[in-house]
Amino acid sequence: MIIEKIKESRFTPEVFDIETFGTAFSDHMLLCWYKDGKWGEPIIKPYGKLDFTPAISVGHYGQGIFEGMKAYKGSNGDVYLFRPEKNFERLNKSAVRLDMPEIPEHIFMDGLKALVDLDRQWVPATHGMSLYLRPVMFATEEAITARSSNEYLFAILTAVAPNYYNKPLSVKIADRYSRAANGGVGFAKAAGNYAGSFYPTHLAREEGYDQVVWTDDATHTFIEEAGTMNVMVRIGDKLITAPTSERILDGVTRDSMLQLATKLGIEVEVRKITVQEVYDAHKSGELKEVFGVGTAVVVNNYVAVGYGDERLELPLLSPEESYGQILKKNLVDLQMGVSEDPFGWRV
Ligand code: COI
Repeated sequence: MIIEKIKESRFTPEVFDIETFGTAFSDHMLLCWYKDGKWGEPIIKPYGKLDFTPAISVGHYGQGIFEGMKAYKGSNGDVYLFRPEKNFERLNKSAVRLDMPEIPEHIFMDGLKALVDLDRQWVPATHGMSLYLRPVMFATEEAITARSSNEYLFAILTAVAPNYYNKPLSVKIADRYSRAANGGVGFAKAAGNYAGSFYPTHLAREEGYDQVVWTDDATHTFIEEAGTMNVMVRIGDKLITAPTSERILDGVTRDSMLQLATKLGIEVEVRKITVQEVYDAHKSGELKEVFGVGTAVVVNNYVAVGYGDERLELPLLSPEESYGQILKKNLVDLQMGVSEDPFGWRV
C-alpha cells in the first residue's frame, strides 16, 4: 500500500462541533483502481478531487455500491471499528449483484485500518459521536455503452459523524411507491436504491413526514424498512422486526440490536409484520414504540406513523422505558469500549 501523507493537517478541534452529517471529511482517503481484470495497489493520499469526464459509466448506468461503518474512540484513546467483516462481506454481496468485481479482503481491511490509524485524531471521543467510514465502489470506464464497466474505483472516505437526524422522526407508510421488488437489488447497498427513494420521500415531506417506511411492493401489506434504517416495532413487551429478504437490507445494526436485545432478556420476534397489525396495536394502546436502526442513525424513535390519511401519534417513552433508547445506550457503550464486549464485535 502506498501512503502519501498530507503536508499540513486540516484538523481543528472545532470540527467536532459540526451539526451536519457527512460534510467534514478527514485528511486522507483510500483509493484503489480496478483495470485490465485486476485490482491495483491501494493508495492512501490527501482527501481531494478526482478527474473524470461526463462519460463516466456510473453516471449513466448506476453501477455504484457503498457501505456505512464507524470508528469510535474510547476514554483510553484507543480507536475501535465495529464488526468490519460484516461490511466487507456485504459490500462483496452487493458487488456480485451489480456485476462488479469483488474487493479482496486485504485491500478492504488493511486499507481501512491504515486509513483510520492515520486519521485517528479525527475520531471524536464524545459519547455518541464517531468517525463515519464510507467505503464506496463505482464504475469508472469512460464509455456510455450499456454494459458492465471494465474499470472501477474502490475508495474509502471518512467524515466526522454527529447525530444523523437531530430530532425524532415522523414516518409515512408507503402505499403507492416501492423501494425494492423480488429479484431486484433491495438487499444490496446499491446507490440506485437510495436514488429511487428520494422522490417518494420528497412527497412524504410535503405531507409533513420525514421519511418513508417501505412496504412489500406487491401488496403494501407488510412493513419492510425505512429510508436509511431497518424498522423495529414494539407491541406490548415484544420487539418485532421483519426478516431480511431479497428486498430488505441485512443491517449490521439490526443484527447487533437483535442479539443485544436477546441478551438483555427482551422478547424478540423476527417475522413478517403487517401494517394492519401496527394500526390495530396503536388503536388498542399496545403499540409502545416504533424505531429505526442503522449505522448512521444508530436509533431513531418515531413520534408519528402516517397510514393513509391518518397520523398515528406515538408519545416518546423515557430513556429508561424505551427499548430503542436502552438498546442504543448498550450498543454505543459497547462500541466505545465503555462496557464489556461479550460478542467479540470490537476490533
Ligand atoms: C448507514 O447507516 O451507514 C447508511 O448507509 C445509511 C446512509 C444512507 C446514510
